[in-house]
Amino acid sequence: MEKQIIWRVEKSWPQKEQGLRVFMISDERVFFTIYQELEDKLKVYKERKLDKSLLLTASDLTSADYFVPLNQFKHLNVWEAVKCAALQAYKEAVALKISPLVLVLDAPEASGFHKKALEGIILGAYAYEQFKSDPKDRDKEDFCPEVVFVVGGLDLPIIEADLRRLEKVCKTVNRVRDLVNHPPAFLGPEEFVDEAVKSAGRCGLQIDLWDENRLLKESYNGLLAVGRGSSKPPRMVMLTYEPETAESGVIPHVVLVGKGITFDSGGLSLKPGASMVDMKSDMAGAAAVLGALEIIGQLGAQVKVTGILALAENMPSGDAQAPGDIIVMKNGKSVEVKNTDAEGRLILVDALQLGASLKPDYMVDAATLTGACRVALGIQVAAVLGRDRDLISRLIKSGEESGEIIWELPLEKAYLEDMKSDFADISNIGNSAYGGTITASLFLSEFVPEEIPWAHLDIAGPAYPGKKWKYFAPGATGFGARLMAGLVKNLQK
Ligand code: BES
Ligand code: MG
Ligand code: ZN
Repeated sequence: MEKQIIWRVEKSWPQKEQGLRVFMISDERVFFTIYQELEDKLKVYKERKLDKSLLLTASDLTSADYFVPLNQFKHLNVWEAVKCAALQAYKEAVALKISPLVLVLDAPEASGFHKKALEGIILGAYAYEQFKSDPKDRDKEDFCPEVVFVVGGLDLPIIEADLRRLEKVCKTVNRVRDLVNHPPAFLGPEEFVDEAVKSAGRCGLQIDLWDENRLLKESYNGLLAVGRGSSKPPRMVMLTYEPETAESGVIPHVVLVGKGITFDSGGLSLKPGASMVDMKSDMAGAAAVLGALEIIGQLGAQVKVTGILALAENMPSGDAQAPGDIIVMKNGKSVEVKNTDAEGRLILVDALQLGASLKPDYMVDAATLTGACRVALGIQVAAVLGRDRDLISRLIKSGEESGEIIWELPLEKAYLEDMKSDFADISNIGNSAYGGTITASLFLSEFVPEEIPWAHLDIAGPAYPGKKWKYFAPGATGFGARLMAGLVKNLQK
């Protein structure tokens, strides 16, 4: 659950005031180079037995209480390093039970650093602990120091407003993480719909819902086929954000689509036990799309945004779809289901077809689609595939801004050969052991009309890395929400 981080912005912080005083280097060019120098000084500092052993500082070494060794974050880019460093300082203040934690960021180039520091602290203080019954195992009972940003001559109201917006973003990311971390018994398709309804109310979004009857009437046969094995029927949700006052006549329209398998057992092509454990996270794409819509709803944008969540549970049962079954999709194309564990693509094509019918300027889907993506890129990097250079570049740029790294894989049409079926138009898996992320994306692309600028994000790695990572506690990271919201923000004229 989320810890409330109390923070404020001050012009200055007199030396005599109490608090754990932390300095940050404000110039990103010297952020790391200066460190080497500081490390030497730090040795001296430690020898003076000041006993506050870590350093994160700028010019005035002597007034710093706390030193965060930055070289431990050297593998990260500077923004990610600031997030980690700020979190470390925060945790030290918690451990020492000192409040406030004073972050001195008063140099002219420091403006971006405040946001990154607060982001590291809010995302880093989150842990999913609601089922830990022993308070000793829970973080949330801990002492919560206040965080003070000292901004000197910088424009205080602007920084404060920036931080307020950032706080909303981070709280939303933590809500996304809650959704992903909730066990399958607590969050099936219906409960996910309830969450979407609440978000819509909170963030001023329009909402449209499909239950199993409406899905049947409108031939969303992928969702119905995948959902058949579960006692919890499938659902689809469409959320729309439109600015109240369009400043320019025509604003861009973006459709975001998310894979929402609330639990993926593999279906009758059952996964081995160990591979199933983390599959409550198979709705991370849908959660990220919901999060992106929430962020946009709260902060506003001169862009129309539609989010489509495809929600189902993939279970084996007497009524489950069987390998060899053939689904005729809404557009008439038939799919042979050679493996019921390749279910994400089956539900996504329904949502992508609905999205394409809106004729958006851009369409992006996010999905924990393939284990192959974790093999290809590891757990820290997501894949992007698509056929629109402009959209792919925009996504990569947005990811660079938010610290969510994505890397392009080729949508290599030659591999479509691997997806032939003897009985249907296409098979839902490739017949080769290799290139699984590409074949999955090619499958999707077969259902997205050529004229729609579309890209697919395979977030199977970083959405739920399976261990603690950077400033993230074990479990969900909310990957994709900031990235997609950033794409939208950057599209504003
Ligand atoms: N949800 C999984 C992909 C996944 C695996 C996400 C591990 C996160 C961690 C997906 O539905 C799946 O099972 N994909 C299969 C596809 C295969 C049957 C072609 C896979 O990756 O094994
Ligand atoms: Mg699967
Ligand atoms: Zn899945």
